[in-house]
Amino acid sequence: MKKEELYSGKAKTIYRTEDPEKLISVFRDSLTAFDGKKKSEAANKGYYNAQISRKLFEMLEEKGIPTHYLGMESGNEMLVRAVEIIPIEVIPRNIAAGSITRKYPIEEGTVFKTPVLVMDYKSDEHGDPMMNEDIAVAMGIATYEEVAQIREMALKINEILKSYLDEKGFLLPDFKLEFGRMDGKIVVADEISCDTCRLWDKSTGQSMDKDIFRFDKGDLSKAYEEVAKRIVPEIFE
Ligand code: C5P
Repeated sequence: MKKEELYSGKAKTIYRTEDPEKLISVFRDSLTAFDGKKKSEAANKGYYNAQISRKLFEMLEEKGIPTHYLGMESGNEMLVRAVEIIPIEVIPRNIAAGSITRKYPIEEGTVFKTPVLVMDYKSDEHGDPMMNEDIAVAMGIATYEEVAQIREMALKINEILKSYLDEKGFLLPDFKLEFGRMDGKIVVADEISCDTCRLWDKSTGQSMDKDIFRFDKGDLSKAYEEVAKRIVPEIFE
């Protein structure tokens, strides 16, 4: 049962529960992009993202990757372990898109021979600057061993997700992961959803992710529904 609000982010609100080790993450319909400069709402977005995230966390757990996921409280409310979030956004990239094509002379659509792992410091105040193991250690936010483990886990998750999504008819150009500490071990936290991944339909090449909102590419709710139909068909039965 939800108690008081702990934190409200751009697309999720986190609540305490009666158990200090457990939190409830409510996936909302609100959308923001470009550092909050662009805002909107999309019907059922929170529900689809929560269900997609649930399925991907369950699948990762089955493959031996620990996550903060504990269960669902309702359609868009996820019960998670309270973890100490490491403020690093870890982005495995398979096909060039988004910021990497703006920051470097790399053309959109370039298929990387080996995945490119990018890390950013999660800070709106500082504009999410580039992060690496030396900066993380200098700032005291993670040890060298932890960053090495995070990199290894992110690359493994990338392989698992890429082949899982390929079977569902999607390309996975990139996605963002966050990690936390739980009982001294590193676990996947936050969410893995249409808001945090680039997903391109394999046959049409169309974006089926938050780029629809960022760049006004069409009906976001409809696209997320289509992703949900392929990943969590059980919710439509
Ligand atoms: O903006 P950029 O191209 O670096 O984003 C790479 C990937 O990380 C995209 O899939 C994007 O949705 C995700 N991302 C995110 N949260 C952020 C920044 C990026 O989920 N704060």
